[in-house]
Amino acid sequence: MSIIALTNEKGGVGKSTTSVHFAYWLFSKKKKVALIDADPQRSCSKWIKRMDDPIPVTILTTPDELLEKTPEIAEGVDYLVIDAPPGLAECCRAILFRADLAIIPCQPTGLDLDAASDAVRLVRQAQSVRGGLPDVGMFVNRAAKGTKLKDEALSLIQKIDDVTALKTVIHQKQAVADAFGQGATVFDLKGAGASEAATEFEKLFREIMRLL
Ligand SMILES: Nc1ncnc2c1ncn2[C@@H]1O[C@H](COP(=O)(O)OP(=O)(O)OP(=O)(O)O)[C@@H](O)[C@H]1O
Ligand SMILES: [Mg+2]
Repeated sequence: MSIIALTNEKGGVGKSTTSVHFAYWLFSKKKKVALIDADPQRSCSKWIKRMDDPIPVTILTTPDELLEKTPEIAEGVDYLVIDAPPGLAECCRAILFRADLAIIPCQPTGLDLDAASDAVRLVRQAQSVRGGLPDVGMFVNRAAKGTKLKDEALSLIQKIDDVTALKTVIHQKQAVADAFGQGATVFDLKGAGASEAATEFEKLFREIMRLL
């Protein structure tokens, strides 16, 4: 049983998109998987509801619930994915007290990279209380191909101590943005964009699995 949390207090970086894709990818590999939706916007639960596959989702939106109920949900599955909310540092802390691995998506802009340092700070606080866990990885999401910003973001991430900089970059793709509306993931959508995005997510998830 492993608990993987997608965290970053910065909004709109791709936490929910990655959570749903990761949970679905694990499910398609025949793993027993569950998802905790900790975001009051309930993006993940709405998304999963629109999909055909029965991935169990539990909505837990307070720090108390997250601390108390996460272990029993994790007990019954191989992998538990938690989609953290934006902004709510106390919820994030509770999640980081339970996660084995925190994955921080980050957009390749100065503002986002700056905000990512707050996300890393929360992880470090949890690591210090727990004596090590959670491990932490960061990846660049919504990058534009061939831009300087993307390369700069990658090299900045590589410089953060004790954070694994994931090599796979997820590019900005219309197919990814369309997936929620289609009640699907890019793994099921047709077209070249969806298939490129699916290849990127697959690579990213394989990298994440190596951190567990
Ligand atoms: N790689 C991508 N390509 C195109 N669009 C993307 C990509 N990743 C995320 N998006 C879009 O960006 C928006 C924000 O993504 P998402 O909701 O996953 O972020 P979030 O971090 O969960 O946001 P919040 O903090 O508000 O919960 C969504 O409209 C989503 O479709
Ligand atoms: Mg979200």
